[in-house]
Amino acid sequence: MKRLHVITWGCQMNVYDSARMADVLAPLGYAPAQDPADADMVILNTCHIREKATEKVFSELGRLRHFKRARAAEGKRTILAVAGCVAQAEGAEILARAPYVDIVLGPQTYHRLPEMVAQASRAAGASLHTDFPPESKFDFLPDAAAPQTPGGITAFLSIQEGCDKFCSFCVVPYTRGAEASRPAAAIIAEANRLAANGAREITLLGQNVNAWHGEGPNGTPWPLARLLYALADIPDLARLRYTTSHPRDMSDDLIAAHGEIPALMPYLHLPVQTGSDRMLAAMNRRHTVADFHRTIEKLRTVRPDIALSSDFIVGHPGETAADFADTLRLVREIRFAQAYSFKYSPRPGTPAAGAGAQVLEPEKDRRLQELQAQLRDDTMAFNQSCVGVVADILITGPGRRPGQIGGRSPWLQPVHLPGPVSLAGQVVPVRLTEAHQNSLSGDLYQERACA
Ligand code: 5AD
Ligand code: SF4
Repeated sequence: MKRLHVITWGCQMNVYDSARMADVLAPLGYAPAQDPADADMVILNTCHIREKATEKVFSELGRLRHFKRARAAEGKRTILAVAGCVAQAEGAEILARAPYVDIVLGPQTYHRLPEMVAQASRAAGASLHTDFPPESKFDFLPDAAAPQTPGGITAFLSIQEGCDKFCSFCVVPYTRGAEASRPAAAIIAEANRLAANGAREITLLGQNVNAWHGEGPNGTPWPLARLLYALADIPDLARLRYTTSHPRDMSDDLIAAHGEIPALMPYLHLPVQTGSDRMLAAMNRRHTVADFHRTIEKLRTVRPDIALSSDFIVGHPGETAADFADTLRLVREIRFAQAYSFKYSPRPGTPAAGAGAQVLEPEKDRRLQELQAQLRDDTMAFNQSCVGVVADILITGPGRRPGQIGGRSPWLQPVHLPGPVSLAGQVVPVRLTEAHQNSLSGDLYQERACA
């Protein structure tokens, strides 16, 4: 028996990838280790999306090196692997600066981990695996063992990876490679297995998930909407979600699916990045502010209770005070239930990194604070608007305090309530009683009949 410890940074796809790397290594005898100090192998699964990613990797590697040394003193070998998007982008630098690392592997090569581990066990010296392989890793991975989250009631399922859109600021096309969709049959089979293993809610993942396209059973082309209808038929699967979408690919059939599939939850993460047409063009987003408003209107028409979430970047090169004011206006007009906002961070090799007119850091800070204050208020207002509502809550397990259980609302809010853990996995009616910035409190709702 050997022990594996995986450290995951970044997006939900990295969470999925980490679980799949563990699945790949399980047949080699690797079982999970809670503590990296006890692990025969440690994988650092990294993210390169913003800021100082590489420095963060080196500082974590410094810590792991101590464990490796301490174990070596006891005669034990530790295999240290760096995976994910920093590995893809900065593989050579990692090997040069951290020669005690054994394996560097990009996100498209982890199905080959068994060979890499065998090689690392045989010989000293590091190996680098960052070429994009001709085969798809999904054709070589073992079946996903179980949902990735504790308790296993909610699960991620990767259906699409990579991106061909080349937004000015983004590293994803370089780290994850070209857009690739998994076949419908493989996705449906994996969803069935996850449901059989206890998953009640599945979130389909892709960097550009609504660009997913596949082939149906009779050879006809399927868009994402068609896949959602098929997945909604899986018995025992109560809920479906998908993330992250690009506004350009919010097709009418996909919008219509939001009105027609009860299992498709009324929540959509749709990054807009900026409310300025000029900046949308500079970012190569290939849509306008008016297009975005139209998409939101259509979604709200078919699904009036839909909660919207978005991503914003402030201080993209060339962004003026007027552009930023346009972003604030868009936020006030749409009122997002949830949002993530970031200071623009130049990524090596991307077009915007080399552009002139970089916005100064203090100005980025100021804009970010102003935007975040507005977005926080909108989230709180949305949470408050839920108070008094009886909502279907998927119970996911124990809550924060003894006697409490936790769950997830249709709008992706965490909900805490008194109740028995035996309800885990059930969707129960809950009266929402109190709003917080990042969660809600509630009580199990029981209709009382008169005697
Ligand atoms: N700088 C700042 N934010 C970025 N994002 C992506 N690239 C950058 C960057 N270079 C943000 C976008 C994206 C989210 C995942 O991260 O808002 O939607
Ligand atoms: Fe980070 Fe993007 Fe890679 Fe996910 S795909 S780990 S967000 S760089």
